[in-house]
Amino acid sequence: MANVIIVGAQWGDEGKGKVVDIYTEYAKDVVRYQGGNNAGHTLVVGNEKTVLHLIPSGILHEGKRCIIGNGVVLDPKVFLEEIDKLKKKGYLKNDSQLVVDGNVHIIMPYHKAIDIARESNSGARKIGTTGRGIGPTYEDKVGRRGIRFIDLIRPEIFARKVKEMLPEKNFLLEKMLGCPTLDESAIIEEYSAYGQLLSKYLGNASKLLNQSISEGQNILFEGAQGSLLDVDHGTYPYVTSSSTIAGGACTGTGVGPRFIDAVVGISKAYVTRVGEGPFPTELNDEMGEKLRQAGQEFGATTGRPRRCGWFDAVALREAVRTNGMTGLAITKMDVLNDLETIKICTAYSYRGEMLEDFPQDLEVLKECKPVYEEVDGWNCDLSKATSFETLPEKAQDYLKKLEQVTGCPAVLVSIGPRRSETIQVKNPFN
Ligand code: IMP
Repeated sequence: MANVIIVGAQWGDEGKGKVVDIYTEYAKDVVRYQGGNNAGHTLVVGNEKTVLHLIPSGILHEGKRCIIGNGVVLDPKVFLEEIDKLKKKGYLKNDSQLVVDGNVHIIMPYHKAIDIARESNSGARKIGTTGRGIGPTYEDKVGRRGIRFIDLIRPEIFARKVKEMLPEKNFLLEKMLGCPTLDESAIIEEYSAYGQLLSKYLGNASKLLNQSISEGQNILFEGAQGSLLDVDHGTYPYVTSSSTIAGGACTGTGVGPRFIDAVVGISKAYVTRVGEGPFPTELNDEMGEKLRQAGQEFGATTGRPRRCGWFDAVALREAVRTNGMTGLAITKMDVLNDLETIKICTAYSYRGEMLEDFPQDLEVLKECKPVYEEVDGWNCDLSKATSFETLPEKAQDYLKKLEQVTGCPAVLVSIGPRRSETIQVKNPFN
């Protein structure tokens, strides 16, 4: 038996969806533990592409149970649309395949309105959020003002909570943020209807998962966003509002740390970031554009072009440490196929000083310049490779170099978007 956490090792969009899809085969339950529909996981099965924002990627496998853990924030409208889309494609034949924990917090229309208004009023200090209401929902959760899934599905409690909350939210929207106010009865009517449609998915994630553990079944914990967007350990304030690192998997599901066996960090063979915030290896030149085009680096959720840069081992070592990472999954190796040489950032230079560690102080990070090692590219197609040994020698060297500079072994290598374009070096479930 093994329970495995998948985390983003960079700033999100590392290709977690594909790795979760591959690993689902070995698990009984796939559970999301944080974030909301700010995430976007793109999966390619055969010639069909599916983008999921909320439902665990494991849903494409019949018979696997997909759980939305208490640490997630859920937009019921988006959730219903996603269910509908999946059912139309022939997935989710049995509703018991999907479970939402009662303590999941609900993203309400005022959360979205506040998120968007704050961003547009912030000028140069904006975070570059996805505008999905994530931050304001988590604020209400820790402020003990939130509305949970268990409240949404009980019409009287839901109506009471909306009536309690809305005057304050409307005051904020109108008087502070200069936005139109929201209508109480329209919200109650619309969202109560969602609650009724969704009540069949109610479950207790902690209980179900611990039951699976006691039966000797495997669990796959599906992280969203990336370690450097973690609210505590990321590049604050340019972060998301949840615990994206492996520790979040325990608090976000109600499974104790002693049941976690492996933590696999997903990292691209280079780096991307969406939204604002420091990014030492960012390439604002032709090479950055080349990576963007070759990697199709445009957001799955917002369509925004992603910022691109060389692999940053300093940032990755930070993620290895904060997650207690046991293995790395390197994705999008094929994007580097036609490069003569590739750069890897191994340290930062800050005012003439060499830094090996990722600085906590954003003012320092902003001024850090990458120190690169340049290595040979493999400059050929990787698609024929079926194992580490059948990769071109230079590609093997690149992976070994990444292992060396991050101090973490590569357990999986992705050489294309399809399931078949994956090399499993070591299975974390074994
Ligand atoms: P929020 O999560 O919408 O509040 O956005 C906060 C920051 O996290 C912004 O920089 C977003 O671009 C970033 N972010 C949120 N979700 C994702 C994701 O799934 N991938 C990459 N970046 C994300």
